[in-house]
Amino acid sequence: MQTIFNTADLQKQLVKIRANKLSVGLVPTMGNLHGGHIRLVEEAKKISEIVVSTIFVNPMQFGEGEDFANYPRTLGKDKAKLEAANCDILFVPTVEEIYGEGLSAGTVISVPGLSLDLCGNKRPGHFDGVATVVTKLLNISRADQAFFGLKDYQQYLIIRKLVKDLALPTQIIGVKTERETSGLAMSSRNNYLSVDEKQKAKVIFSTLKLIAEKIIAGERNYVVLEKIGFQTLQNSGAEVDYFAIRNDEFLQTPTLRNRNLVILAAAKIGPSRLIDNLLLTI
Ligand code: PAJ
Repeated sequence: MQTIFNTADLQKQLVKIRANKLSVGLVPTMGNLHGGHIRLVEEAKKISEIVVSTIFVNPMQFGEGEDFANYPRTLGKDKAKLEAANCDILFVPTVEEIYGEGLSAGTVISVPGLSLDLCGNKRPGHFDGVATVVTKLLNISRADQAFFGLKDYQQYLIIRKLVKDLALPTQIIGVKTERETSGLAMSSRNNYLSVDEKQKAKVIFSTLKLIAEKIIAGERNYVVLEKIGFQTLQNSGAEVDYFAIRNDEFLQTPTLRNRNLVILAAAKIGPSRLIDNLLLTI
């Protein structure tokens, strides 16, 4: 695996790769890699001939008081994991490389509607930061495919929309959520949890499943079901941000005609704000 720290060097490599008519798959990450990230690389290896992973802790998507400064930076370990997954190129740009003129001086990509709801409601500006950096990474790499986890479902939909709206040529591929055996969705923020808190955090996925089972059994009062989900999380000691049942395409409140749903939850357990979701078809 080749590690590249600046855009010009990456683009030089990509020119050669394209001259050989090889397809390029992009896996953007913020590092501190776990099984979920590696799953993306494995999926990319199945579809794209050359896999480029990126590690960039993107300051634009962190709000004030969030964990940008403390976000774990573990490049050595990350490299070893990517090597083991047969990643071809690792791109690790600096903040200057991505935001040369300063964070507030450049063009911002803002996806309307979807960005303001759920996680966007609690984290103002977060999805503008995500959309802007992902657009830059897609433009730098001109990847044929780019891989994103369905664990961050709202982020995945926002990226699909920006690619469609801006007519970017990259195909966006969603990859199933990788979980611990306990059901807890893998996340870099699980590292902040004590053994006890990790045990407690299992309640997020078990509550998503509980509500999914009720829907599958025929319950359709989504307002009541959201309340049950919220309450179940709260009773376990989690500080609940939202528990929502939405349609899977636009994240709107489902009508009775909507068959493809997603149940989404965000809650703080100990020091970590954790998110998870469950897709279901009825
Ligand atoms: P990060 O949190 O590092 O996640 C990188 C990618 O890994 C995202 O597409 C995310 O959805 C996926 N991922 C995380 N946990 C996963 C899991 N348990 N199973 C499957 N996929 C998982 O998401 C970001 O970084 C950033 O917002 C980014 C898109 C890189 C833009 O800065």
